[in-house]
Amino acid sequence: MELNEWQQTWSGGLDRILCMQGGDDDGSYARNSDAPASAISLSKPLLIAAIQSMRLFHGEASLRIADLGCATGFNTLSTIDLVIDTLRGRYNKDCAFEPEFEAFFSDLPSNDFNSLFRSLPPFIDNKKKRYYAAGVPGSFYHRLFPKGKLHVAVSLSALHWLSRVWPIPEVVLDKRSLAWNKGRAWIDGAKKEVVEAYAKQSDEDLRAFLQCRREEIVEGGTLFILMAGRQGLEQPENQLGDPDSRAKHPFTSSMDQAWEDLLNEGLIDEETRDTFNIPAYMRSIEEVEKAFHQCGGFEIQRLEYQRIVEHSKEKQEEWIRDPVSYGRAKANLVRATLRPIVEAHLGPKLSEELFKRFEKRASADIEMLHKTCFYGVIVVCAIRK
Ligand SMILES: C[S@@+](CC[C@H](N)C(=O)[O-])C[C@H]1O[C@@H](n2cnc3c(N)ncnc32)[C@H](O)[C@@H]1O
Repeated sequence: MELNEWQQTWSGGLDRILCMQGGDDDGSYARNSDAPASAISLSKPLLIAAIQSMRLFHGEASLRIADLGCATGFNTLSTIDLVIDTLRGRYNKDCAFEPEFEAFFSDLPSNDFNSLFRSLPPFIDNKKKRYYAAGVPGSFYHRLFPKGKLHVAVSLSALHWLSRVWPIPEVVLDKRSLAWNKGRAWIDGAKKEVVEAYAKQSDEDLRAFLQCRREEIVEGGTLFILMAGRQGLEQPENQLGDPDSRAKHPFTSSMDQAWEDLLNEGLIDEETRDTFNIPAYMRSIEEVEKAFHQCGGFEIQRLEYQRIVEHSKEKQEEWIRDPVSYGRAKANLVRATLRPIVEAHLGPKLSEELFKRFEKRASADIEMLHKTCFYGVIVVCAIRK
């Protein structure tokens, strides 16, 4: 069966287009990564503890660290720094010897590696290099490194992105299928069949990720993951916890309203709206644990759920005073995370129209601005056995 362009995109070609918006303008990921940044700072002590407790590799002249789903900007650079500084401290203290470090920044080929490389710390003459950096393009759902290559692999705020949306392309082709996600851009509050299709894909993906890392990480090496997630196994259609957090999330109400606006204005047809699906799934702790057990080869040292407040109190007060700037900030966040896949679906002009509708909808919802919302993350630290 011949698949048209959007069918190919959602059923397998996602790694060619999914990425965060590159560059460093207002709509770039580098300028809109505060939420992942707060998740990272919250998990920092856990990452330090994981590195502090891993075994040292006495015979190795160099240690290799990978950030999988690195994107661009401060988050990945500070994470690599943190891992290297912690390891360096331990080697100096325990071995009176300092290995060299290699840092692999890995993401999908569509990632803006140029921006990332431009932001690397400069190499100062006559000083020992902090680390040797390299970019590794590819999907973390496939092998990225040779066997036993990595000593530390981290993946932060990335694994909730799926490799594709639909496990069976035929489901997409059949509008009468129960898994046809009508009127929604995502799965929060969607029909059971739609959520099940996502859950199945998420399960396959996580197992594929772990099987690849099982090959690539050396015995005694560390895998540290932080991903958007849910606390309980029940109600996977409730991806975001409490009702306020659900309503305020950029993938839910305002997003669906923005698509509806384009439809009502005659700019797109229903099929165009209904075939756009955000390829993200928030796993529960149980789903994550099950995938680790099925894969084998890792010993879980820590597996926990944490709730993160969406914004600081000051930011919230600032936005209550100026809802338009709230709408703008949210639209920029959506541009930063979704522009490449929206553009692949709608083209650049209509995409911008969608983001403008989103901005208007988000700033009109003044009541929501007074609510404090949360999002959940799952943190896992595991040792390769
Ligand atoms: C929200 S960003 C997080 C970036 C960074 N780790 C941080 O914490 O700021 C998610 C990143 O995961 C990447 N990503 C999504 N799916 C991926 C895949 N299958 N393989 C590699 N990277 C992927 C995206 O391209 C994006 O750069």
